[in-house]
Parts: sequence; C-alpha cells; structure tokens
Amino acid sequence: MNIQDNAKKYFDENGENWLIDGYEQSGHNYPTALHRVRVTKNILSQLEDVSHLLDVGCGGGQLAFSIAELGVTVTGVDQNEKMIQTAQAALSGMPGPVRDSISFELKSVDQLALENSNHDALTAMGLIGYLKDDETLFKAASKNLRKNGYLIVSFRNRLFNLFSISERTLMEAESGNFARLVEEISQWDEEVDEKTTLDFVTALHAITGQILENKHLLSEPKRLPSETRGKSYASKMEPRQTTPKESIETAQKCGFKQISFSGIHPHFSVPRLNKALPPQVYNRISDSLVPFENSSLSLLWSSVFIGVFQKID
Ligand SMILES: C[S@@+](CC[C@H](N)C(=O)[O-])C[C@H]1O[C@@H](n2cnc3c(N)ncnc32)[C@H](O)[C@@H]1O
Repeated sequence: MNIQDNAKKYFDENGENWLIDGYEQSGHNYPTALHRVRVTKNILSQLEDVSHLLDVGCGGGQLAFSIAELGVTVTGVDQNEKMIQTAQAALSGMPGPVRDSISFELKSVDQLALENSNHDALTAMGLIGYLKDDETLFKAASKNLRKNGYLIVSFRNRLFNLFSISERTLMEAESGNFARLVEEISQWDEEVDEKTTLDFVTALHAITGQILENKHLLSEPKRLPSETRGKSYASKMEPRQTTPKESIETAQKCGFKQISFSGIHPHFSVPRLNKALPPQVYNRISDSLVPFENSSLSLLWSSVFIGVFQKID
C-alpha cells in the first residue's frame, strides 16, 4: 500500500480518536493540534494581505473555523471522506456569516498539485509527515499561491529525536545521522541569548513552585486507567519527521524563502516522565515553556515545529 492509501486507511480507522487527542486536554494528553491552531491564527492575524486561505489536510475543520474569525475566507481540503463529513457537520451548525466564508472539499494533495489557484496563504497542519516527501507539499503550494503568498506548515521535529532518548534516538544513532543533527542543534543554540536562557530557568522555577503549592495536583492518581494518552488506536502510522534546516532546504528548492519557526509541544525533559507524573503535571510545565515558542531554543525541546515560508515569485 502506498503512503497516501495508508494515510487514508489510518484516518478512516482513527480519525475520530485523533481529533479528540489533538484537541482535548485530559488525562496525560497534550492538545498539540489546539496549540497549532493558536499559533497559526496568531501568525495569520499579523499578515495584512491575507484574505483567502487554503487549508490542506483540514481534518475536522478546527483551523478553518478559527481563521474565519479573522474575516478570512477559507477553503479546507482533505482526502479523507470521514474528516470532510465531520467538518461539514460542524460547519452546518455555525452562524450564517461563518458558513458563508468557509467551504470544505474532498481533495488530495496530489489533486491540488494538478491545479492552479491564487490563494494568499496555504496552511497544512499535521499533514506533511503523511506525504511521501516534503517537496510534494511545497510544489502543490507553489501552484496554489499567489506571488509572495505564505505557506504555513507544521512538521514533526526530527531534532527532537536527540532530546527524547527514545527508540528514535537509537534509530538516528544506528543510521549514522547523529553528528549532522547535533551540528544543526548547535547552530540553533548559537542564536539563543543569555536573557532568554535566564528567562527559561526562571519560568521552570516558577512553574515547579506553583505545582508544589497545588498539592492536589500531586496527590491525583498517577495513572487513570482509561484516561492516559489517550484513545486506543486501531492501527499505527508514524508520520515522517523533518529538521528545521531540512525544511529550509526544501523551501529554497521549491521557490520559497523561510520567514520564521515556532516550536510546538515543548518538553522540559524526556517524554516518558509524562506518564510517571500525575496527569497534566508534565503538561503544565510544557505550557510554562509556551512563551519561548518563537525562540530557536524551542527547536530542541519541541516535538513539532511550525514553519512560515513565502513564495518568492
Ligand atoms: C493529523 S490530521 C490533521 C488535521 C487538521 N489539519 C488538524 O490539525 O486538526 C492530518 C489530516 O491530513 C489528511 N491527509 C493525509 N494525507 C493527505 C493527502 N495526501 N491529501 C490530503 N489530505 C491528507 C488526513 O486525512 C487528516 O485529516
């Protein structure tokens, strides 16, 4: 089965659970998709010349609903029929003006790549890792953006493999990629100034103090039987990962320049501590690192990053 069919099957079987895990803060779960929507909305609200957005891999439409509040017209496309049905059902319950500014279509990235349109911006949250390579999305975006249009993409952060001390760390070691990743991390680290580093230490100190004061947080049972992360999935599909530097190289190859990066889902320590602590303790510490999401410091400890790119011609 090719990767596109695999992704179709995966979201057919797990789409409903994925939407719950992506957006709900319960048990040990961290709502990464919710943070991606927050950051993307913030980015788009600062761009003055965006009135038409194409959201690719729109899922249940959460980003479209949020961006429409900025007065932007949104077209959401997804290859998964169930996702489009979910998005349509949610849209039909919305007030008239919202309904008029959003539409959803069943369409794959490959189909988009055969079309030409002039959108001001294109977003792709949680999508690119399910494509055969990153270029596929950048090329489709190039054909569907106007000159100087913006591409906002979330990636699974490959640099995080060095921080997670997990099977993926071993995989990088075994495949001989360690040195290259360490070198990239060192380059991003060089951009971090002393003030940011001190602010980071202060933030960690403050949040651990708050947690210790809120004794009830620590007395909650460590593992809630049905509420840990998160839902049980019928099948597994690990999305591909990318480093920030790799994304810049692909962008340049496809006629884009990189504007900014934001780290999403920050981890103060190895992820396995999450379930060793009572629910939400680890995640509250993650939330205390959100103020650093636009610093390159975040590119080491965040398992996801959002890149903003601009089409050059
Ligand atoms: C992880 S979900 C993210 C959904 C939504 N963007 C969000 O953040 O809530 C990924 C979505 O990409 C869609 N997708 C995967 N491969 C695709 C492809 N080749 N073309 C279009 N959509 C695709 C899936 O059906 C799924 O809805």
